[in-house]
Amino acid sequence: MTNKLNISFSDATPQGDFASICLIGENAKIIPHLEKAVAAELIAAMGTAQFTGKKGESLTLYSTTSTFLLVGIGEGLEAGRDAEDIGGAVFKALEATAQKRGYMPEHRLANEVIADLFLGMRLAAYHFEDYFTETDSVSESVSLTLTANLVNDQHPLIVDRNALVNGVSLARDLVFEPANKLYPVVFADRCELLTALGLEIEILDEAEMEKLGMGALLGVGQGSRRESRMVVMNWKGGGSEAPVAFVGKGVTFDTGGISLKPPKGMEDMKWDMGGSAAVTGAMCAIAGRKVKRNVVGVIGLVENMPDGNAQRPGDVVTAMSGKTIEVINTDAEGRLVLADALHYTERRFRPQAMINLATLTGAILVSLGKEYAGMFSNSNDLSAQLAAAGEATGEKLWRMPMGDAYHKMLKSHIADMKNIGGPYGGSITAACFLERFVDDTPWAHLDIAGKAWSDKATATVPKGGTGFGVRLLNSLIDQWGDVSLAKKI
Ligand code: BES
Ligand code: ZN
Ligand code: ZN
Repeated sequence: MTNKLNISFSDATPQGDFASICLIGENAKIIPHLEKAVAAELIAAMGTAQFTGKKGESLTLYSTTSTFLLVGIGEGLEAGRDAEDIGGAVFKALEATAQKRGYMPEHRLANEVIADLFLGMRLAAYHFEDYFTETDSVSESVSLTLTANLVNDQHPLIVDRNALVNGVSLARDLVFEPANKLYPVVFADRCELLTALGLEIEILDEAEMEKLGMGALLGVGQGSRRESRMVVMNWKGGGSEAPVAFVGKGVTFDTGGISLKPPKGMEDMKWDMGGSAAVTGAMCAIAGRKVKRNVVGVIGLVENMPDGNAQRPGDVVTAMSGKTIEVINTDAEGRLVLADALHYTERRFRPQAMINLATLTGAILVSLGKEYAGMFSNSNDLSAQLAAAGEATGEKLWRMPMGDAYHKMLKSHIADMKNIGGPYGGSITAACFLERFVDDTPWAHLDIAGKAWSDKATATVPKGGTGFGVRLLNSLIDQWGDVSLAKKI
């Protein structure tokens, strides 16, 4: 991760060459308190440039003595997504200036709004540049001074947003890392570092998983020279209540195994651990924010490779739950990993609810494109809470159906089930497969195959690893309400 944005809080106007950041409302209403003459000059320049103060619009003006960076905020600025996106726009405009130094004077904004502007700036400033050796590929440092009369580094809102940024950045880093650098053991080591935040971390190796009978997960990893791992991250912030559990698919590379994928685009499968990255990032954010709830994160880490020892199509494996699975397609491996991770989590922690995240199917891209992640659940309450968290954070979810008709497609002639259904409804049959490894816990499966990686940058999300899911899970825990196993759709 590269964080080249230094934000400081100060009451004194900085010295030297810097850009003054002015948030401008629709119809060119200037929010900061500028001297009349300066304001008149800016208004004239805005007219010439046809800058109207529309949300997200930006304009940089250079005069002989100073630089003004105008960013449109439309009708006004509210805390949440709105302020974050403007924060992202401010960072991008500042990064494009020559001096790369900015100062944002008093704007009479509410503290919450300033905190979310700050969040958006920091999320936008994330770059993954660890493997560039040539300096012209590396972004330059940017510094920004915010007035300190309302909030500063120590303010709880800023401390909170910094913890959230750390979680999102961690998830993005994990997703960006190539599979020769980040494989199960390395991923587990990175999780271990989170003990510094007060998380309890346990790492299960292959022998321990073998003892627990995790034949489904281990079958996927058996073709790889890299050993499989399971990591349990436990945050005990909430007394004696049952935890909420997050479970992640962590396939550090998915070749498809013996059911080998075609070469075109296979490099994308380095981010087949996006579900585990989201869970790890969320645990980092929750622990960093010292959230007063019990939350547990469990991730199944494997590499899916073809090899003399790899599992074959037609093999039958026994999951930890005791159920047998006929592996028709070794490329449908994520569900095998999650089968054991979900069962283990439910048995060990008896959670109030379980939410798993996985880059599970290409078919979810066919259904929902890149806008929404797919949500499958046995609980209306949990779905509603997740959907609300999705709207609040912009990490949007769309609930999909399940049911017996789809379950039937998983029937096998020689085992309890096959690992794939028919040619259609692939995301749904995958979700039904997972449901068979959940007993009586409110559960949701989020298929994030269309969301973990992005082909283009937005205001606060880079091209590449998005960290999708961290904001969502963090917000879900903040807004948590009891869930029951109400009827399924
Ligand atoms: N990791 C893939 C799903 C995926 C595809 C994620 C595209 C991100 C982008 C998963 O393991 C997989 O290969 N699924 C198969 C399932 C099929 C064999 C039933 C798929 O989607 O084709
Ligand atoms: Zn696969
Ligand atoms: Zn996969």
